[in-house]
Amino acid sequence: MNLKTKKQLLKLILISGLFFIQSISNAVPSTDLSGISLIPKPVSVIAASGNFKLTPKSTIFLSGQGVELKNIGNYLASKLTPATGFGMAVRIATANQSPGNIYLSINSGDAQLGDEGYQLTIKAGAINLIANKSAGLFNGIQTIRQLFSAKIESATHQAGPWQIPAGTIRDYPEYSYRGAMLDVARHFFQVKDVKRYIDLISAYKMNVLHLHLADDQGWRIEIKKWPKLTSIGGSSQVGGEKGGFYTQEQYSDIVKYAAERNVMIIPEIDMPGHTNACLASYPELNCDDKATELYSGTEVGFSTLCTGKEITYQFISDVFGELAAITPGPYLHIGGDESHVTKIEDYIPFVNRVQEIVRKLGKKVIGWDEIALTTLVPNSSVQYWAKAENALKGVKQGAKVIMSPAANSYLDMKYDSTTNLGLFWAGYVEVDKCYDWDPATLVPGVGKENILGIEAPLWTETISTMKQLEYMVFPRLLGLADLGWRAPAAGNWNEYKLRLGQHGGRLKAQGVEYYPSKLVPWVAQ
Ligand code: ACM
Repeated sequence: MNLKTKKQLLKLILISGLFFIQSISNAVPSTDLSGISLIPKPVSVIAASGNFKLTPKSTIFLSGQGVELKNIGNYLASKLTPATGFGMAVRIATANQSPGNIYLSINSGDAQLGDEGYQLTIKAGAINLIANKSAGLFNGIQTIRQLFSAKIESATHQAGPWQIPAGTIRDYPEYSYRGAMLDVARHFFQVKDVKRYIDLISAYKMNVLHLHLADDQGWRIEIKKWPKLTSIGGSSQVGGEKGGFYTQEQYSDIVKYAAERNVMIIPEIDMPGHTNACLASYPELNCDDKATELYSGTEVGFSTLCTGKEITYQFISDVFGELAAITPGPYLHIGGDESHVTKIEDYIPFVNRVQEIVRKLGKKVIGWDEIALTTLVPNSSVQYWAKAENALKGVKQGAKVIMSPAANSYLDMKYDSTTNLGLFWAGYVEVDKCYDWDPATLVPGVGKENILGIEAPLWTETISTMKQLEYMVFPRLLGLADLGWRAPAAGNWNEYKLRLGQHGGRLKAQGVEYYPSKLVPWVAQ
């Protein structure tokens, strides 16, 4: 046997050993807190001896009052009850409690934890979760879910025991903005689907859902002053099938549901391009006063609002005015990408004027990276997707950057040449490509201090069902959630893929049919 063969043999034995240890550790509940695969990876995990065990009498105790804390307690109960079959009562804390309970408390005074961090102490008798804000408690609850075996995620009763090894976890995010984007314009997704998406992204501590509400193929949000936007513009979608839209009431319901899961909704109305749906609804928005035909294809870059008409700005003021009134978050997204048929000398004053409209509504502007070609109003953010030079131009104007590089973070790109769904224009995005980049070093000149966070967009030209959506999103979204949360030095692909391998069963238990990438050592659960 030559040296190379010997080395290969040794490597094989080592790898098989690792797999063996993994399968063993999976078969029985983990006995070491620091051995549990958490995504995102926490800042610090210190194991101790002993185990916490849920019992049929386990109660969630709240130290404090208030609706928010109560909602968080009820949320935790709703996550633990179906699989355990335990009642999980939620009560205000009193002294001298019996073992097996979970204590949630808001305890401002630990500055390092910030708004979203938490500290979780697990002892044989109790779990204590503390945070400065309810957002931190919500994030800590996601960690608690992952500390139980994967079957905790099942919607039906499963056999226990339900235990977690003792120790302490301290945790807080690297970036304050960790988002996903859903294009509901190319294909419309029902309110219940959006809620499921919010459930799934928030389980991995993502805190933004950007809704792409209007594009050439459809207008998806009721605007009371411009009703034809939805009656005409919302009527269709890619492929020519029936479309749909959210009433303002439904949108507000989504916003509330998201807020209860620490997710902020950012609405986008893309302009001046990507506007065929509104141009088909109202002839006066076209320079020739003629309504366009509804469009159900997948080309981009052929439409533009008439930038020289006053009615265009009245329209935009009305649309953003109504949206601002039902969007509690600070941002409105104005799109601005791929306006290929808008002359640059029209594009620049148009975007400048739209920014002013948003600013006057008391909201902050986000736009795709092309908006950095204009004069950005203070507190704007530029969403980098295509051109590094645009991201840099944004930074030079003092804007923050949201990192959504298409080649790494677009969840509609095919995984490889065998993927039936998705597009290919930014290249294949296998699970490692999606993970193996550092937001703070990807674009020279755009550093951590310039970056608001990361976002994983899902464009839906080829995606029309939740099953298809989930196959494209999972497992890539988990990697982007990890990248947005953990410090850069705390992970790398080789370490992460082992953690990810432990999450297949957890996704399956939630009914998610993820893409089983061959690059990941999936562990049967
Ligand atoms: C984009 O993908 N056109 C932002």
